[in-house]
Formats: sequence, structure tokens, C-alpha cells
Amino acid sequence: MKRIGILTGGGDCPGLNAVIRAAVRTLIRDYDLEVVGIQLGFEGLLTRSIIPLNVETIRGILPKGGTLLRTTNRGNPFEYPVSGGGIEDRSREVVDNIHELGIDGVIAIGGDGTLKIAQRLCEMGIPMVAVPKTIDNDLAATDYTFGFQTAVAVATDAVDRLHSTAESHDRVMILEVMGRNAGWIALYSGIAGGADIILVPEMPYRPEEIVRTIRERQSEGSKFDIIVVAEGAKRMGGEEAYLDKATRRLGGIAYQVAADIQQHIELEIRVTVLGHIQRGGSPIAFDRILASRFGKAAADLVARGKFGDMVAVRGEEIVSVAIADAVSRPKYVDPKGQMVAAAHSLGISFGDGA
Ligand code: F6P
Repeated sequence: MKRIGILTGGGDCPGLNAVIRAAVRTLIRDYDLEVVGIQLGFEGLLTRSIIPLNVETIRGILPKGGTLLRTTNRGNPFEYPVSGGGIEDRSREVVDNIHELGIDGVIAIGGDGTLKIAQRLCEMGIPMVAVPKTIDNDLAATDYTFGFQTAVAVATDAVDRLHSTAESHDRVMILEVMGRNAGWIALYSGIAGGADIILVPEMPYRPEEIVRTIRERQSEGSKFDIIVVAEGAKRMGGEEAYLDKATRRLGGIAYQVAADIQQHIELEIRVTVLGHIQRGGSPIAFDRILASRFGKAAADLVARGKFGDMVAVRGEEIVSVAIADAVSRPKYVDPKGQMVAAAHSLGISFGDGA
């Protein structure tokens, strides 16, 4: 019997457990393979931390957020941090441990960083299949990543809640959402929640345009405004806001936007930074289904020996693409695309003057 390992790497995301469950079920039921879970991403291949995955151990995980296997974004074996500073390449140890653990193939579920590591391990001869994961939905190789729609649903709920309090107090409410350097969560939740202004990294904003939109709305009788800003947004000619520049952790642009417009408007401004609430909790039905389809498809790729491939969705179809192609192509909001055009027609401003 062949033994297949599954790991989750990088940040967590709603739907990871649904992928694990579907892959385990398919590998066991359809292919009679043994499955083990590798804990804490690639770190578990250095510490040899594995657990059995079977019908009993995965029971009840479908609706649960997070990952049964735990995860980290600090365990890159090619650039492993050395205590006392610096990095070292421990990829050879990973390869040796995979052989010694008797693992014949690995399904790696993760974002950009995990996919890059998976690709490099593939080049070293490890049979890897990848499943893309990120709430940011910023991979061109797939129409959607699971977790994105859940994050959008959470952010939309936040916009709805801000609406009623904004309306009661005649305030400008600024909601900062995640997405790294892509504006997808802001764009989708802004449209779904009926925001007045959406600020995305792909369309740098001008403070005077935001002020102009607020004044225009006032002249039409509106007494409050909802602004959804993506964490990676920036002022025209300015820079992204970082919580920690060294590690490139984004955060705080909503406060920058507030400071940019405060002295030019009479309305009070309040800022909400939604943070990891977007990433935690139960996946919505769309993500459970997409994740389950990805898990099944990844298991099929393993069984067919199609290593070096990643599952993806195009339209209604689950397809596979080379991991190498997937990692090199990010997907950003197109300022001239249909989604932005629809938002414009709805009267939403992007604060860019277009
Ligand atoms: O890539 C997913 C994501 O949630 C981004 O939207 C966000 O910028 C980042 O991860 C946050 O990372 P961390 O959990 O390390 O703070």
C-alpha cells in the first residue's frame, strides 16, 4: 500500500479542513491508499511530526475553520531561520525525511509561499501535488481560491453593520479589509455591502477625490459615507501602510485615509480594521464545495501520478495546471475590467478621479 502525506502551509483559511477531508476520503475510498497528516506545514517534515488520517480522525471537520494539521508561515526549509540570526537550507533533510517516513507522495495545500516550496521540492524529485489556498484570491491560474468567498461574506456583514451605525450618527465609516496587494476582498464586499467608496491597491487614491465624493453625496442629501479600503491600498504617489515593514505585514491604511480627509470634511470619522476575523471560522457553503472538489481532484492527481500539478477551477470545471506556472502569475483587480465598470455604474467611487 502506498502512503500519501498531506500538509497545510502558510496562513490558515476557511475550507482547509474540507480539502483535507475530501482528499483523505478519496485516497482511501477510491484508491485504497494510506494517508498521513504532516503537522505544521513543511516544519513537520523536519521534525517528522505525522498523524494518521482516516475516517475516524477526520470525522466532523468539514464545517470547522482553521486546519486540523496546524500551520505556520515560518517553516520554509530552503530559508530556515537559524537561532541567533541568519538562514540555512534544510531542504535535503526534508527530502531524506520524506523517504524515511515512507511517504510516496505529498499533497501541499497553501498559498504563494507554500506553492513555491512545493515546486522546488518537486524539482528535487519529491512527488508533490498542490492545492491553492488564500482568502486574497490573487492567483491567476484559478478563477477562485477557497476561503475568498467566506472572507467576502464576513466583510460584507461588517459593511452592513457599519451602515446602520453610520446612518444613526452621520459619520464616515472606514472599513479596512485584508487581501495583501490585491483589492478583491475590498471590491467584492464593497459592492455587496453598497459601499460609497472602495479603495484598492491597483487604483491609488487621491484624498481630494474622496473628499469630493463625500461632498457630492452631501449635496444629494446623504449624511454618512461608507469607505471600504484594502489593506494594500495607497495614496497616489505614496506607499503602503505596514504594521511591520521588515516582514511586510500590511495594516493601518484606514487610519491614513482618515488622516488624509479629516480636516476637509465636517463629518466625524471612525475606523474599523477587520483583521483575522475574515480568516477564522466556518467556511460558507461555496467554499466547502470548492474545497471538497479541490481535495478530491488533488487525490485523483496523486493516484494518476500527475505530480508537479496544482488543482484549479475554471468556470464550472476543476482542472490542473503546472505549479511552476501558477506561482509566477498573480491576479490583480483590473481597473478597466467589468467588476470595476459595474461598481462605477452603481455610483461607487474608487477615489482615483477616473
Ligand atoms: O494572505 C492571506 C492574509 O490573510 C492576507 O490577506 C494578510 O495580509 C495576511 O495573510 C496576514 O498574515 P498574518 O496572519 O501573518 O498576519
